[in-house]
Amino acid sequence: MGLKLGDIAPNFKAKSTEGELDFHTWLGEGWGILFSHPADYTPVCTTELGTVAKYKSEFDKRNVKVAALSVDGLDSHNGWIKDINETQNTEVNFPIIADEDKQVAELYDMIHPNALSNLTVRSVFVIAPDKTIKLMITYPASTGRNFNELLRVIDSLQLTAYHKVATPANWNNGDDCVIVPAVTNEEIPEHFPKGFTEVKPYLRLTPQPNLD
Ligand code: BEZ
Repeated sequence: MGLKLGDIAPNFKAKSTEGELDFHTWLGEGWGILFSHPADYTPVCTTELGTVAKYKSEFDKRNVKVAALSVDGLDSHNGWIKDINETQNTEVNFPIIADEDKQVAELYDMIHPNALSNLTVRSVFVIAPDKTIKLMITYPASTGRNFNELLRVIDSLQLTAYHKVATPANWNNGDDCVIVPAVTNEEIPEHFPKGFTEVKPYLRLTPQPNLD
């Protein structure tokens, strides 16, 4: 059976471009992203990994560590990094896991043989500090991911984790948030001093709590 939201992200040990990783130890106390790409030296993947490198300060702000993965080996990853740096005008600043024996790909169900045989598709796992999986997204090989969307989801997840709000459809940073049902109206002043609007008893909006 495949992984589900709320499951503990399976731990593993693997070789990476930044040395041997014990995944849970490497994650430490913060948030993590594990994302797979189909293959080194391919065009869409080159743009994706370059984009992730450029977003490092955004991931750091959110206390998120990022690791990439494909079933290519370390020599291939290390050679390709030079191309990513050159063509995407950046420096790869996160580990790329070499999963030649497909140990991690199988643990995380990243190979979808009817879509792409023997290679990992574009899977993304967001992992919370307690090591539970908070988000899983799978894209086909032909579609590069939108890393702005990934930051948006992390902002939403962190608002839920730290401020007891959810985020409505098409929410963006700065928009009103939804007070989670577990908070009663009586508890609202304590948690949401900026006030709230009750559209329906089950739909209560409040200004984004972590902004001044
Ligand atoms: C790419 O990264 O461009 C790619 C990789 C595998 C299949 C199709 C596209």
